[in-house]
Amino acid sequence: MNFLNRKFLLGDLELPSNVFYAPLAGCSDFPFRKMSARYRPGLMYAEMTKMDALVRGDTGTYQMLDFDKSMHPIGAQLCGSNPEYAGKAAKILEDMGFDVIDLNCGCPVDKVTKGGGGSGLLKQPELIGELLSEMVAKVKVPVTVKIRAGWDEECLNAPEITRIAESAGAKAICIHGRTRKQGYKGPANWDWIKECREAAKEIKIIGNGDVFSAQAAEDMFKHVGCDAILVSRGTLGQPWIADDIYRHLEGLPKVERTLEDYRQALYEHFLYTVEYQNDRKTMVDMRRVGCWYLKKASGTREFRQKISKVSSVEEARDLILHFPLGDLIEEEEEGENNCESSC
Ligand SMILES: Cc1cc2nc3c(=O)[nH]c(=O)nc-3n(C[C@H](O)[C@H](O)[C@H](O)COP(=O)(O)O)c2cc1C
Repeated sequence: MNFLNRKFLLGDLELPSNVFYAPLAGCSDFPFRKMSARYRPGLMYAEMTKMDALVRGDTGTYQMLDFDKSMHPIGAQLCGSNPEYAGKAAKILEDMGFDVIDLNCGCPVDKVTKGGGGSGLLKQPELIGELLSEMVAKVKVPVTVKIRAGWDEECLNAPEITRIAESAGAKAICIHGRTRKQGYKGPANWDWIKECREAAKEIKIIGNGDVFSAQAAEDMFKHVGCDAILVSRGTLGQPWIADDIYRHLEGLPKVERTLEDYRQALYEHFLYTVEYQNDRKTMVDMRRVGCWYLKKASGTREFRQKISKVSSVEEARDLILHFPLGDLIEEEEEGENNCESSC
């Protein structure tokens, strides 16, 4: 079966593939997207931004949305629960040049859900419909929505939300196969995404959760029958995962990467960061980014300790280029190399 689609239509927009890169708050910033763009995902999203902050003209929020032409096709994601702001903010994003606009209904953070946004919206499916209708009415570009399977196992309402999103005119719905209660713990349940596939008529289904390899991408396409997949944590430290997935699905040989290849990629990510950020921010960002790229190397505890203490960009460069790497490990060692919490 041919899962890969190199001309994927989202409304009238033709995307180069049906393998997408997720919005990742605190991670999918400008340098991350420069790295990602080299491997041509079908669509990449910038970090989520608050709709009210955009409408207010908050400078920091606009900066998070900075992009260049190499990053097209690119989506922006809105977080909030006020339909009037949703429409206005969507129009602002369209005018800025975004190709796709998404509504966040998945963020589990208390601060967000208490204000009614993120996964708090899962408790008010009708409001999701209102927000999407406002957005669709105000822009010409495709509107998408990203949800979780439900608030908790007692309220698995993703299929109902799929139908609501379809009626509101959203072109695709991305379902993360975990509940809000789960956070990021435990495996994603792809059956919950499959139920949305069955509920959908026109709306495209994007599967999300636990795609960390090309094989997992194939497994998700097979299991769910989804139209597209969204890779999230699997993009951290392996910006080439879209290309790995393309090669796998096209039956081409796997590109084998050594730890020196990972080091080189980290160095290139560092260079994009130096070019874009000030020195202080570069040093802070490298604590997180370095960890992603070196998670397949054993004995990187010392690297992490050192990178968190560097006092200049030159020192960070020197450490990245010369730190002695251990052995390549296929499975991530919990604790020692797991740095997700740093995002
Ligand atoms: C550090 C981090 C930041 C995230 N930021 C966002 C975000 O801004 N918007 C969003 O819709 N989801 C966000 N997510 C959720 C992911 O996009 C994705 O749905 C989730 O990680 C499940 O996919 P995975 O198992 O492939 O990682 C974030 C997840 C993580 C770990």
